[in-house]
Amino acid sequence: MFRPHRRRARGLALGLCLMGVVPPLVAQAQSAPPSAQPRVGSDWPTLPATPLDPDQERRIAAMVGRMSLRQKVGQMIQTEIKAASPEDLRTWYLGSVLNGGGSWPGGRQDASLTSWVRLADAYYDAAMASDAPDPVPPLWGVDAVHGHNNVQGATLFPHNIGLGAARDPELVGEIGRAVGRAVRATGINWVFAPTVAVVQDQRWGRTYEGFGADPALVRTYAGAYVRGLQGDLKGDGTVIATVKHFFGDGGTETGRNEGVTLAPARQMFDLHAQGYLGGLAAGAQTVMASFSSWSDPAAGIDYGKMHGSRVLLTDFLKTRLNFQGLVISDWDGIGQVPGCTRSHCPQAINAGVDMLMVSTEWKPLIENTVKDVETGAVPMARIDDAVTRILRVKMRAGLFGRRPSASRYAGKPAAIEARGLARRAVRESLVLLKNDGAVLPLRPGRRVLVVGKSADSLPDQVGGWSITWQGDHTTNADFPRAVSVLSALRRANRGGKVTYAPTGEGVRVEDFDVVVAVIGERPYAETAGDVASLSHTARYPEDLKVLEAVAGHGRPVVTLFESGRTVYVNDLLNRSDAFVALWLPGSEGQGVTDLLFRDARHPRFDFRGVTPFDWLATACPAPGAPVLFRAGFGLTYKHPAAPLGPLGEAAPVQSCPDVRR
Ligand code: BGC
Ligand code: BGC
Repeated sequence: MFRPHRRRARGLALGLCLMGVVPPLVAQAQSAPPSAQPRVGSDWPTLPATPLDPDQERRIAAMVGRMSLRQKVGQMIQTEIKAASPEDLRTWYLGSVLNGGGSWPGGRQDASLTSWVRLADAYYDAAMASDAPDPVPPLWGVDAVHGHNNVQGATLFPHNIGLGAARDPELVGEIGRAVGRAVRATGINWVFAPTVAVVQDQRWGRTYEGFGADPALVRTYAGAYVRGLQGDLKGDGTVIATVKHFFGDGGTETGRNEGVTLAPARQMFDLHAQGYLGGLAAGAQTVMASFSSWSDPAAGIDYGKMHGSRVLLTDFLKTRLNFQGLVISDWDGIGQVPGCTRSHCPQAINAGVDMLMVSTEWKPLIENTVKDVETGAVPMARIDDAVTRILRVKMRAGLFGRRPSASRYAGKPAAIEARGLARRAVRESLVLLKNDGAVLPLRPGRRVLVVGKSADSLPDQVGGWSITWQGDHTTNADFPRAVSVLSALRRANRGGKVTYAPTGEGVRVEDFDVVVAVIGERPYAETAGDVASLSHTARYPEDLKVLEAVAGHGRPVVTLFESGRTVYVNDLLNRSDAFVALWLPGSEGQGVTDLLFRDARHPRFDFRGVTPFDWLATACPAPGAPVLFRAGFGLTYKHPAAPLGPLGEAAPVQSCPDVRR
C-alpha cells in the first residue's frame, strides 16, 4: 500500500547526510519520456568506498591469473547439498553449496551436529584436494533466518516481524551473534539473512521475514544484525551475512511473491533501499538478488527482473553503493530472466550476479557458461570480477586454512542454544492491543481454561522456515527443547489448574476463572503464504468459533494471536477482553507467560512491543483503507487505555478487488 511519506523523506535525507550519503533529490524521473532506458540517475543514493586491502587484492589477482576458465566458472556455482557430493566440489571446482529450507545432511531431519560438521569438513577437504593451482575452500550458505532453524534442538527466535515490534537494535545484534555461533556449530560459514524488505502489502507470504514498514528501523536493524552475524569476520563464531532480497521485494503489487514493484525511484530509495544502506555500511559481504521486478510507469521505465538488471546490480549496487562483496542469485532465479533458463543465463552474469544459486542443474550451467565466455557472450573480465569478489569474501572471512571443525563451537550442543536471549526477545516483541477491565496481568493460582488450536502447537508457534521450508510436516517432537505456550501457562500458573480443551466444546466455562485462547495462522513460507484477503476468519473459521464458544459466559477471555502479519481481526477482538499479538514467537513460550502473569502484587515485566504494521479495519488493503491500530501502537500495564468497546464487523472476504496503487 502506498503511503505518502513526506515526513519520512525528510528524516531520510537527514539520515543520509549523517551517513555521508547524498540525499536523493529525485522527482525529475517523473518527466522522463515514455519507454526511457533504465539508467542510474545522478540523484540516486551513494555510499562511500571502503579501502581494499592491497596485499589481499594482489594475492587474489595472482590466483585468478592462474585459474582456468572451468575453475573460475566452478567458483561461481552454488548448488544444493542434495545435488552435489564432496567429490563434485573437487572435480568441478564448485565454489559453494547451500542447504535449502528442509534440507539436512543425509536427508535426515534429525541429523546430529556431528553429521553436519562431518559433511562440512568433507566438502572442505574435497575442495582443497582439487588439482587447481590454488585450491579454494567452499562457502556453505544456510537460511538461518530466526535462529539455526533447520537444525533440531536449536533455539528458535521470534521471526523478524516480532523483532521489529521490539524496536531494540541491541537485541538484534545479540541475536545475530547467537545465530553465528549456532551456525558455526554445524560447520557452516554463511547465512542468508537478514531480510530487509520494507513490506507494503501484508498479503505477501514473506511479510514476517521483514522487520516492518518503517524504513528507518529496517536500516538500523540491518546494520545491527549484520554486525552481530559478521563481527570482525575472523572470529570462531562469526558468519558471513546476506542482505536480501535486492531490492523492492516488499513492494510488489498486491503483495504477490516474486511479483512486480510499481514505484517511482523516490519510493524505491526511501523505502526499499534503506536496508542496504544500513547493511552495507555495516560491512555485509553478500547481497542476494530479488526474484521481483521493478517498474516505474510514471517515468516510463521498466527495470525488469532484478536478476537481469545491470543498472541495479552493477551500476547502482556495485558502483554507486560501492559494494565490494558478492551478489548471489536466488534459488534458480536466473531462470526467470527473459530469454534465460535455470541452466543458462549470460544476462544475469553480465548484469552483475557473481554466484549462481542453482537447485540441481549446475552441470549444464557450467557447460553453457564456459561456452558463453568462449563465444564472447560473457566477457572474461566479468568472470574475473565475479571470481575476484568471491575470493575476496572467502579471504575476508578467513576460510583459507581453516577446516569447519576447527571452530571451537563446531559440534557443541550448547552453541545452538540461546534460550534466555530468545525468551527476552519474545517478551520484548509481544504487543498488547486490548486489555479491557485490566484482565491482564493474571494472578497465578487460578483455574485457567485454555482453548484454541495453537496452544500446544510448536509448529504454529515457530512458523515457516522451521525444520522444513514451509514449517509444515513437523510435530512438537521436532522441537525437542522448545516450550509451547500451553506448557508455559502450566509452569507459570503456580498453585493453580490449567485445563486444555482445543475447541472449547463440552466444557463449562463457568467452572473456570479465566479463559486463554491461543489461535492464529498456520505455518507458511514464500509463495504458499500469499493470501488474497487479510480476513483471518475467512481462512480459519475455527478460530472465531472457539471464541464464540467461550465468550459471553461471564469469564474474561484472553486471546493470544500468532501470526506472520497483521490481519483483519475485529470479530476476534469483539469476543476477547484482552488481545495480545505474539507474532511467530519461536521456541520459548515462557517469554509469553513472563508478561501474562504477575507476582503477588505487580507485573513482572511490562509490554514494550508496538505493532510494526497497521492493523486494518478491513480485510482489503487499499489506499486510504481504514486503520484500527496504526503502526507504532501498543498498550502497556503502566499506561492502561480506555476500553476498546465493540467494533464494526465485516463478513469474511475470500479475496479482495485488485486495486492498483
Ligand atoms: C528464497 C531465499 C532463500 C533461498 C535459499 C529462496 O527461495 O527466496 O530467501 O535464501 O531460497 O533457500
Ligand atoms: C527449498 C527452499 C527454497 C525453495 C525455493 C525449496 O525446495 O528448500 O530453500 O527457498 O525451494 O522454491
